[in-house]
Amino acid sequence: MADLEDKGFGTRAVHGAGAPDPATGAVVPAISVASTFAQPAVGEPLAFEYSRSGNPTRAALEAHLAALEHAAHGFAFSSGLAAEDAVLRLLSPGDHVLLPDDAYGGTVRLARQVHAATGVLVDTVDLRDPGAVEAAWRPTTRMVWVETPSNPWLRIIDIEATAAAARRHGAVTVVDNTFATPALQQPLALGAEVVVHSTTKYLGGHSDVVGGFVATNDPALAERIGFLQNAAGAVPGPFDCYLVHRGAKTLHLRMARHSESALVVAEHLAGRPEVAAVHHPGRAEHPGHDVAARQMSGFGGMVSFQLAGGEAAALEVCRRTELFTLAESLGAVESLIEHPGRMTHASVAGTSNEVPGDLVRLSVGIEDVGDLLADLDQALDSLR
Ligand SMILES: Cc1ncc(COP(=O)(O)O)c(C=O)c1O
Repeated sequence: MADLEDKGFGTRAVHGAGAPDPATGAVVPAISVASTFAQPAVGEPLAFEYSRSGNPTRAALEAHLAALEHAAHGFAFSSGLAAEDAVLRLLSPGDHVLLPDDAYGGTVRLARQVHAATGVLVDTVDLRDPGAVEAAWRPTTRMVWVETPSNPWLRIIDIEATAAAARRHGAVTVVDNTFATPALQQPLALGAEVVVHSTTKYLGGHSDVVGGFVATNDPALAERIGFLQNAAGAVPGPFDCYLVHRGAKTLHLRMARHSESALVVAEHLAGRPEVAAVHHPGRAEHPGHDVAARQMSGFGGMVSFQLAGGEAAALEVCRRTELFTLAESLGAVESLIEHPGRMTHASVAGTSNEVPGDLVRLSVGIEDVGDLLADLDQALDSLR
């Protein structure tokens, strides 16, 4: 295999997935289902020993995704939250972690309802506000969690500035890169120490697998994450690894189309009288547009918008669309619509992360964009 380091993202996405098998010529790494591997002598395993500790299909996926994030180390998990759980386990009782005040609801639930019980101190803060962030640091702050663009508000956090401040305060920066993917945003190059993914979303890309991933260049963090992956055992099965691996080869094409169509959808929605506000970082009016333009090479496929008619109108739009399927999740080829307040973010109702009832979130797929606009139009027309 030629050295791919200096090649473009698309070339690395395709060829970094692995060279043909020298024994068979197979151009795709095999799905290796063995749970255990024969050892020639006691205590002398070959490359693999037991599939929780390591598996050939998983190793191929981990090497590929790590390379796409320009990371030396990568670890696959059974879900995005399992990956996040491993990262939060880097903290000890008494350590303080800062989360964005609009992080994915499951991330907040994991930190507040699982890790806080182990003695980790959790605070949320508006990471877009340097003054609020400066006031939030404590001597015990060991981690700051960045999610950009955020779910469901599509807010943008400056990764480079946050990572620089975290370093001054002795904390590591973790970036949830699920929405942007390495095709559009490279957090490690911007100074973050750790990247996490729900590979369920764009990396898998086809709504047919649940998975997670952690990448880092820090050898000590990598050693601990690798230990936790094996010790806690939240690993993906080989078929799931294969599906994510397959999805990642077309990531660049899909992200280009998602980004292009999402901007068209966002601008179209902004012109509709039933829509009170549209959130998409590609719009010049978006408050995070300049930072997004600096740290991303495209603005991604997610759009959220608020209905002038409040929650009743939001629920009606979710009920009326036909090409946009009403479902949780995001990041796949088909367009999805959801009501964050009652669906993905219901677990944070009553907290500072609560989402208002008038908000609708779209995951814009790769269908013909004219058909997507027509579908949204007929749903909005029904409100008249
Ligand atoms: C930004 C973000 N991070 C993490 C997760 C959790 O991933 P999973 O559902 O694969 O556990 C999600 C799920 O929606 C998400 O949107």
